[in-house]
Amino acid sequence: MKFTESPVIELPVRGAVVSLQQDNGSFHVGTSVWPCSLVLVKFAERWAPLPGGPPTTTNNPYAQILDFGSKRAVELGAGCGAAGMGLYLLGLTDLVLTDIAPVMPALKRNVKRNKPVLAKTLKHSVLYWNNADQIAALRPPFDVVVATDVVYIEESVGPLIDAMAALLATDGVVLLGYQVRSLEAHKLFWEICETVFDIEKVPHQDLHPDYAYEEADVYVLRKKKKKEKEGE
Ligand SMILES: C[S@@+](CC[C@H](N)C(=O)[O-])C[C@H]1O[C@@H](n2cnc3c(N)ncnc32)[C@H](O)[C@@H]1O
Repeated sequence: MKFTESPVIELPVRGAVVSLQQDNGSFHVGTSVWPCSLVLVKFAERWAPLPGGPPTTTNNPYAQILDFGSKRAVELGAGCGAAGMGLYLLGLTDLVLTDIAPVMPALKRNVKRNKPVLAKTLKHSVLYWNNADQIAALRPPFDVVVATDVVYIEESVGPLIDAMAALLATDGVVLLGYQVRSLEAHKLFWEICETVFDIEKVPHQDLHPDYAYEEADVYVLRKKKKKEKEGE
């Protein structure tokens, strides 16, 4: 997969093209498009059933999770919004993109830029992972929580997983585009994740061949089922 530092990144999705304007010189990492977002969208494009089309469960292990239909979704740490906008084009239409306040101008600029291709201005909201009021204001639960390239600061790992768990419906899924960015954050993230979620790693051969590289992974996380009390 080619990853480019050019000011504009184009992401083709089922005949449409999301165009993302990034600012690699900014102080905030969220003003750049990170490659796992593209890997996640192109994986989903490969397997998502056509909106309104016939169910294609045969030979498609991802048909159910990627059949976005009327699902509610939220993206955490959306940055320029690449993942959310790409998944919107695949049918994830009830979606709110979130990030910290300083990244909002870049996110809003890209949402506006893509209004013609999306035929809609996507919802966006400020959300800091440790802010319970902002989480509650989004009215969880969500069927899908999207997050790409968000694990890179050890101190943020706990709040990120707490936010994911607070936002996610009992039977919902987290779609996670992932690459190791910090060994400490990586170790802690998976240690805590194992206690909160059932973790499914998408085999590399199921990623989009043109949008895959060794270090990038897609994970599907589901909340662990609470054990029923004995005798009930
Ligand atoms: C490496 S960027 C990835 C951006 C985008 N998801 C992508 O893949 O292009 C990480 C994102 O997480 C956001 N982020 C980091 N810490 C956060 C926090 N505590 N609360 C909310 N967002 C946070 C950053 O602002 C940034 O947009």
